[in-house]
Amino acid sequence: MSKIIQLSDPHIVPEGQLAYCVVDTATALVQAVATINRCLPLIGPVDLAIVTGDLTDFGTPAEYARFRRIMSSLDIPYRVVPGNHDLRENLRAGFAGESWMSATGGINWDIELADFAVIGLDTLVEGYHHGGLDPETLAFLRDRLARFNGKPVIVGLHHPPFTTGIHPMDLNNLRNGDHLRDILDAYRGEALLVCGHVHRGVTRMFGSSIGLIAPGTSHCVTLDQRIENPHTLSLEPSGFMLHEWRDGFVSHLIGADFPEDRYPFSTPAIGDRSLQ
Ligand SMILES: [Fe+2]
Ligand SMILES: [Fe+2]
Repeated sequence: MSKIIQLSDPHIVPEGQLAYCVVDTATALVQAVATINRCLPLIGPVDLAIVTGDLTDFGTPAEYARFRRIMSSLDIPYRVVPGNHDLRENLRAGFAGESWMSATGGINWDIELADFAVIGLDTLVEGYHHGGLDPETLAFLRDRLARFNGKPVIVGLHHPPFTTGIHPMDLNNLRNGDHLRDILDAYRGEALLVCGHVHRGVTRMFGSSIGLIAPGTSHCVTLDQRIENPHTLSLEPSGFMLHEWRDGFVSHLIGADFPEDRYPFSTPAIGDRSLQ
C-alpha cells in the first residue's frame, strides 16, 4: 500500500532568529520530524515525504542549509517544491545532486509508487506572493499525466488554486488555477491535489478532484474571514498529513505533538468499549 507524508510551510529562518519575532520555526520542524519518525512504526512503511513550499522565510543559502540539517533526521526520503518565501536558484543549489532536482527552469518532478504517482509542481512567481503555473510547468503536468495513463495521482504544489475565505491569502493564491482544473478534470484517473501556503487544514472540491491544504509545521494563518482582516498569525496546534491509497485516496491529519501515551478503550464499570 503506497503512502506519503506531506509537510508544509516550515519557514526556517537563520540561526538565532524567530520568524516574525515570534515563532521558533526550527524547533517546530525538529518536533515534526521526530513525530513522523515516532509514527512510522504505527503507519509505515511510508514511501516518501513531500514538503509543499515555504521551506524558508527569506530563501537564503544559510536557511536552506539549516532546513536540510533538520530534515536529515527524517527516516524516509523527501522531496520539495518551492513556495513564495523561497528563492528558486538558492533552493536548487541547496538540493544540488538530488536526482529529482531539475538543473534549470521550474522545480517540477514526478515519482511513480506502486499504487499512485506523485507530481510536484513549481508555482513560485519570484517577487510576488501569489502563485502561477508557467507554460513549461503546465506542459510538464500534461506530459506526466499522459505517461501515468489513468493511474491515481497526487499533485503537490504550494499555492492553492481555490479560495478559503481568508481574504489576504485568497488575493495571493494560484492565479491560473483554471488551467490546472481543466487538466485534472480531463484525467481519467483519480487525482488528489495537496497544497500549502495557508498554514491550516482546508478541504474542498476542485473540479472533479479533492483539493486540500495541509497545516504548517509551526504557525497558522489566523482564521479571520473579515474583508479588512489585519492578516495575522496564530500559534495553533501544527501538524502534517498522511496520504495513502486504499480503495481510493485517504488523507489523515496528524498533530505535530502526537503523544506517545495511549490508553485502552475499556472501563471496568461499563465493560469493553474497544470498538469505539
Ligand atoms: Fe507559508
Ligand atoms: Fe506561502
